[in-house]
Amino acid sequence: MIQDPATSTVLITGGAGFVGSSFALHWKARYPGSRVIALDNLKRRGSELNLARLKQAGVTFVHGDVRQATDLMSLPTIDALVECSAEPSVMAGYDGSTRYVVDTNLLGTVNCLELVARDKADLVFLSTSRVYPMDAINNACAVQDGRFAPRPDAAVTGLSAEGVAEDFPLHGLRSLYGTTKLASELLIAEYAAIHGFRWVVDRCGVIAGPWQMGKTDQGFIILWLSRHLWDLPLRYTGYGGKGAQVRDAMHVEDLCELVQLQLEGMDRVSGHVLNAGGGVANADALHGFTERCARITGRTIQVGSDPADRPGDLKYYVTDNRRITALTGWAPKRDLDTLLGDSLAWLRQHEDQLRVILTP
Ligand SMILES: NC(=O)c1ccc[n+]([C@@H]2O[C@H](COP(=O)([O-])OP(=O)(O)OC[C@H]3O[C@@H](n4cnc5c(N)ncnc54)[C@H](O)[C@@H]3O)[C@@H](O)[C@H]2O)c1
Repeated sequence: MIQDPATSTVLITGGAGFVGSSFALHWKARYPGSRVIALDNLKRRGSELNLARLKQAGVTFVHGDVRQATDLMSLPTIDALVECSAEPSVMAGYDGSTRYVVDTNLLGTVNCLELVARDKADLVFLSTSRVYPMDAINNACAVQDGRFAPRPDAAVTGLSAEGVAEDFPLHGLRSLYGTTKLASELLIAEYAAIHGFRWVVDRCGVIAGPWQMGKTDQGFIILWLSRHLWDLPLRYTGYGGKGAQVRDAMHVEDLCELVQLQLEGMDRVSGHVLNAGGGVANADALHGFTERCARITGRTIQVGSDPADRPGDLKYYVTDNRRITALTGWAPKRDLDTLLGDSLAWLRQHEDQLRVILTP
């Protein structure tokens, strides 16, 4: 458990990924005397670009795999683990290849929990809004003024004009990705009851920002922005192909600040499962994101349309942050313009490297 953040040892699994590397650098900058270990198997294309940044900041990189218990158990004693490793695509498994997502997201959690139990470490687990069942959300939403929103007559617990709250019913299919995360959440509570460690789960909506290697099925904001910047084709998929699906987005720095305050004050948050996201003020329809990207890049591109629904797609997801704000005082500070502006500056600065990775 963390006694003093300034001298803590913090392990970040998936530490070369988008969120993991951002948090590793954030914590190390705040606490230069801490020991930060980033473990990653570099499965995600582009994560390798973060290795030089981690090294320069004094973060120790370990090339390891959460599916291998020995890769974790051979690490030195840790005070905290921030679990950011994942196969993070909601599409994972729909092609019939179900093994990797389950092994990484579920077996990997078990291996992380054995390490946390060994060291009585604090745990911050990054879960997802995808634990909420798809049909329950989709059936409760309809198009209003060109974008999906909860129907006023829907009367579903946990759904309001503020978005989706933690008491939204959990019955129904949610994708293999969402299921591995929900199953992990359940295991965390059981392990903690047996082994006695502190933990918090953050169910995040869309996260975006610099150093996200965006692709169609994960990281759509960076994908959208880069396609505008480089004048490449884009299309709206599903629900008639009009871009009416709505998402909120959280700047990765807002998430880093949240995880920091959770590690600094674990007693206040331990045992809680909390929604965390951009919230209703930072939500837009896909066509709204197109307009924002066109405005900021100064380039209008033709967006195609594929009306056929995509497995795992949601009409609407906006985070109801009221519980986490009441508990911690945290709320996202950076708006969508800041998010897009920071991301565009990063894309421009590293254009040559990023074009190869972000362009199929
Ligand atoms: N980015 C989002 O919009 C978002 C939204 C909600 C939740 N999350 C969750 O946040 C966490 C971080 O996501 P991200 O956006 O940084 O994804 P990411 O793909 O950028 O990072 C994940 C990292 O995990 C690594 N990894 C994959 N399999 C591994 C394995 N078996 N062993 C070790 N490392 C492995 C990858 O190489 C990658 O660097 C994930 O748990 C994800 O489910 C992300």
